[in-house]
Parts: sequence; C-alpha cells; structure tokens
Amino acid sequence: MKTLMIVAHPELEKSIANKYISTTIKEKVEDIEVRDIFKLYPDYKIDIEAEHEALLKADTIIFQYPFYWYNMPAILKAWFDAVFSFNFAYGPEGDKLKGKNFLLSFTVGGPSDAYSPLGYNHFRIEDFLKPMEQSAYLAKMNYLDPIYEHGMVFIPGVYNTQEIVEQRAEKQLDRIITTLKSLSEADPEQKIKDFIKDWFAQFDVLGDEGYFTNHLLKETVLKFPEGEFRGHEGFKEWYDGIRKTIKPDNKHTIKSIVVTESNGLYNVDLNVSLEAETVSGEALNLNVKEDWKVEITRDDRMKIHEYIVQPL
Ligand SMILES: Cc1cc2nc3c(=O)[nH]c(=O)nc-3n(C[C@H](O)[C@H](O)[C@H](O)COP(=O)(O)O)c2cc1C
Repeated sequence: MKTLMIVAHPELEKSIANKYISTTIKEKVEDIEVRDIFKLYPDYKIDIEAEHEALLKADTIIFQYPFYWYNMPAILKAWFDAVFSFNFAYGPEGDKLKGKNFLLSFTVGGPSDAYSPLGYNHFRIEDFLKPMEQSAYLAKMNYLDPIYEHGMVFIPGVYNTQEIVEQRAEKQLDRIITTLKSLSEADPEQKIKDFIKDWFAQFDVLGDEGYFTNHLLKETVLKFPEGEFRGHEGFKEWYDGIRKTIKPDNKHTIKSIVVTESNGLYNVDLNVSLEAETVSGEALNLNVKEDWKVEITRDDRMKIHEYIVQPL
C-alpha cells in the first residue's frame, strides 16, 4: 500500500510538531513519499502534472499541516485549487482519485475546551473541516477520521514546554501509523502479499506439507516444471518429490509481485528466484514465473485455485 504525505508548512525549519511528524514517518512507514509543497513551490507556482503523478501512485493521501486561522495554510489551499482539477478530481472523467483514502492530519495550537459551543472558538474542530470533507466526497475519495492534537504550540515561558509538544507530536504520529496499519490489513492486495511471503517462509524450511494443503482446494490445479498435479494428494506427491531433491533452508526471493482482481478471484503474477542445495550437494539457482489464482474467503482465509510455475 503506497502512502503520499503532502506537508504544507510555510516555516517547516522552525516547526516542532509538523517537522517531527513529516520526517520521522519516513523511518517508520514503508512505501511512503513525503512532499514538502512549500519547499517545492515557494512562489506558489504548483507543478500540477508532478502532483497528479504523485497522487495517482498513492492509495492513501495524508495532508499534514498546522491549523491556521481555523483552516489550512495558504500553500495547501493553492495546491487544492490547482491540483483537484476538472476531469481529474471531478467532472465527467474526474474519477482519478476514486477510492483513495483521504486523511487530514494537523496540529492545533489552542486547547480542546476552546473548541466547543461555550469555548472561545465556539465551534468544534470537525465543523471547520466540512469543506475538506465534501471535497473528498466530490472526488469519490474515502474520507477518514481526521487526526489532530491540541496544544501544539510552544511559546517559551508562556505556554507549554518543548517536551510536551514533542510528546504530543509523537502521539499524533503513532495515531497516523495505527490508521495506516488498519488500512493495510483491510486491503486484499496487502493480505495476499503477506500470505505469499508467509508461504515462501514456510517453504524455505521445508516443513510439514499440511500448512500448504490447508490453502489448497481438492480440485486446485498445480502445474509445475515437474509435471501436472491436482488437489491435496497431488501437492503432497509433488512436495514429497521436492523434499527428496533439495535440502531444507533454501532461499526464495520474491523479485516482483503484482495482484489484480477479476470476478472475485485475485490473479497473482510473481517472479521468484530460488537458491538451494540439492541433497547430493549441488548448488541450485532457479528463476521462475508463477501465476496464482487466489480466493479470500468470507472468514478471511486464502485458498489457491490455480498455481502455475514456469522456469524463466
Ligand atoms: C498564522 C497562524 C495562524 C494560526 N491559527 C490558529 C488557529 O486558528 N487555531 C489554533 O488553534 N491555532 C492556530 N495557530 C497555531 C498553530 O496551529 C500552531 O502554531 C501549530 O500547529 C504548531 O505546529 P508547528 O510547531 O509544526 O509549527 C496559528 C498559528 C499561525 C502562525
């Protein structure tokens, strides 16, 4: 799952919270691109094509910014005005962002009790976010619960300490990471990728074939360089042969993996290399292309319908 973070802060070098979140997230989240749009476009001349390209690649877009005048910094508003364009984000062909997750993550200077009907800011934070929420809906995006922390300003000797603000920034980052994890766990593509990593991790130690047959149907079609097999018995026959040929603790490396969906089944296109030693002590180096058809059952289990391996 790819994540894009759009950071909008006109003075990021002086920031505590937004700087911490936008730099530390790169160490903690895999497959993330962080774009500091004020640094990229200090003159507000936004490269729309570059921004579209970054958006198209992402599954989840996080907007990270300080709350300014009950809203976003001007650079982020300029970014939206330019980038959420006709036939991209809206309009008859404007479905380019459809289904992507939209997550607002911002830091609020004022305390939480100020953001209530009787507080000095009168309105709840969510009331100030309505234009963003509706923009996400118009772009057919998945608007997630916004993540924000209060009391994020440090004014030496007057308000907060630097440590308090840093702790709150850490908490905000943890909340972002928890949200990303739950999105990734719910993502079928990610589930299949995790399953395949586990499959090869089991294979590498050449354990009990019971693990594998659990994920096969009685009629699963198995086409391997060694021949054609079917179902549990077929897999067992093939696997017994492999165990007699190569030693345990071999190494599979997944070089590429592409998952696509059609008619409720997932097609997995894999390139895998195998480094192993045969029982007679010879080194074995193989590159194969694998095509799997996988089902995710209602109770969240993986069942392989078809498993084809071809040498490359
Ligand atoms: C121009 C400006 C406007 C601000 N407006 C608000 C506001 O409307 N409500 C609020 O709670 N804090 C407001 N703040 C405080 C910022 O939200 C706070 O400084 C920021 O979240 C701290 O994050 P940073 O350390 O990353 O800069 C404002 C600050 C500035 C500089």
